[in-house]
Amino acid sequence: MSAYKSKINLNKLPKHVAIIMDGNGRWANQQGKERVFGHQNGVTAVRNVSEAAAELGIEVLTLYAFSTENWNRPKTEVDSLMSLLVNTINEELPTLIKNNISLHTIGETTQLPQDCKLNLEKAIKETSHHTGLKLVLALSYSSRWDILRAVNSIAEACKKQDFSHLHINEEVFSSYLTTSRFPEPELLIRTSGERRISNFLLWEIAYAELYFTETLWPDFDKEDFYFALLDYQGRERRFGLTSEQLT
Ligand code: FPP
Repeated sequence: MSAYKSKINLNKLPKHVAIIMDGNGRWANQQGKERVFGHQNGVTAVRNVSEAAAELGIEVLTLYAFSTENWNRPKTEVDSLMSLLVNTINEELPTLIKNNISLHTIGETTQLPQDCKLNLEKAIKETSHHTGLKLVLALSYSSRWDILRAVNSIAEACKKQDFSHLHINEEVFSSYLTTSRFPEPELLIRTSGERRISNFLLWEIAYAELYFTETLWPDFDKEDFYFALLDYQGRERRFGLTSEQLT
């Protein structure tokens, strides 16, 4: 058993871990390869971390796989990422089934290519009854897109007099976000040494612990994930209270 894994307190696990998978391009460049080589190897890290999260009993794992801004990358890279996504979903579906994992997406998935949408829908349907880890892929996602979508829907509901604007509170607002099906992330991990949030789950991470590591995403393995969880478990989460109030 791994030294880190045995130290994890299974009663103090975050229900929801969100990850900004960053550094694929730099990882490939370091080896004199094309960026897509980094994305291909990033899939191994996706597999390892999903397996580790499922084994530990974490409820939700959200991965930032493709942001709204990523559409602006060169067409060849966007196309490669889309086919990688389709191939990975198809190849990994039996593993998701075997491990009782259900697949979900957040984001403007209507923008994805047709074959990508169809394969995603199939995998989501075939895993929908699973009771283990919820694996959420953020695809064509940005938090400002989701927040604006929610604001528009709420304004529409007020206009139709479904409810008064006086009833808008945090709970109501959250219920209009595409993430409303999941508990809020308690731990956000970003790899590759960047210390930014990059338009990811801005509302939802209000109280999340942030964990940054220099490790590039393709090198991020189960040990790195366990280490991040141990770091999280060593923190005092005060939610605006004082240490004394917590004890
Ligand atoms: C960021 O690295 C990574 C992405 C934009 C794509 C992440 C995609 C994968 C890991 C593969 C497919 C995912 C799934 C869920 C099947 P970057 O390209 O921004 O790296 P850089 O900052 O070093 O350039």
